[in-house]
Amino acid sequence: MSKLRKFQRRDTVPAALLIADTYTQFNSGEYFNKKAVQQYIDYYDPEKNSTTDLLEKFKKTQIFFVAIDRNKIIGLIRGNPGKIVNLFVDGKYHHNGTGKKLMERFQAEAKKINSKEIKIKSSLYAVPFYKKMGFKKTTGMRNFHGLKIWPMRKKVG
Ligand SMILES: CC(C)(COP(=O)(O)OP(=O)(O)OC[C@H]1O[C@@H](n2cnc3c(N)ncnc32)[C@H](O)[C@@H]1OP(=O)(O)O)[C@@H](O)C(=O)NCCC(=O)NCCS
Repeated sequence: MSKLRKFQRRDTVPAALLIADTYTQFNSGEYFNKKAVQQYIDYYDPEKNSTTDLLEKFKKTQIFFVAIDRNKIIGLIRGNPGKIVNLFVDGKYHHNGTGKKLMERFQAEAKKINSKEIKIKSSLYAVPFYKKMGFKKTTGMRNFHGLKIWPMRKKVG
């Protein structure tokens, strides 16, 4: 069972790698413009960004938790009180409750900061997961800089 803790500086490279690898594996077919997929992966790829640059990117979000199993980062969630930016769980650990745990922690944190709702530009893959977590689709599928996304939201508090 994974444990959650706050993101720390030393998590920068493994967290970026988890995003790039998991996105490649599960989400890279969700595009209007294929270049957008590569841009997304490149934005996090530790071989294309210095650790300092990645850390700067991660610092843009106020809430950031990682899930750890046997000293390894196997999941993460980050965002600002009203908005989730990334939620990824390593494919080897899917359907084990880690995504739900990360989401509940995010929600609790957002509530503390007085957030009334949480928005997400969901990947197509994650729509059933977010539905289970109580999110609702707000519009149809959207083109977000060439990526297929599905806006969803959930009221909290
Ligand atoms: C979406 C994601 C984070 C879910 O993580 P997870 O750890 O597998 O989720 P959990 O095991 O906590 O699942 C919670 C519930 O959602 C359900 N669920 C999870 N993934 C699902 C899927 N793809 N389809 C249908 N139901 C799903 C589970 O069955 C579970 O239901 P239960 O509480 O009734 O048992 C993970 O699949 C992932 O990283 N996907 C790739 C990246 C991605 O698309 N991220 C979202 C970006 S917006």
